[in-house]
Amino acid sequence: MKTEVRANWSHTILICKKCQKRAKAAFGPEHDKSLSKALKRRLTSGKGRKARLGIVEVGCLDICPKKGVVLIDSRAPGIWRIVRDDADIDRLAEELAGGAAS
Ligand code: FES
Repeated sequence: MKTEVRANWSHTILICKKCQKRAKAAFGPEHDKSLSKALKRRLTSGKGRKARLGIVEVGCLDICPKKGVVLIDSRAPGIWRIVRDDADIDRLAEELAGGAAS
């Protein structure tokens, strides 16, 4: 049995799944109901571990903003973002794909 599996991910984006449900928002010009779907549309070339970065939906992170979705970039785990539905998804995707986390 394998104990390790390789992945092409450079880093990982964690997105609260429960926030996405609670927010009842639409993200980006495509009006995606989930932030992860809107970001995957822009960021991932490839699926699963073949993608160049990972976007993973996780359970509640105990922030629970009234409006918005909690997002964590694994390159900057000390800064958690709250993304609102009026966020510029293209710009966010550029930031998340870029070399420097902010
Ligand atoms: S519901 Fe997303 S942090 Fe709690």
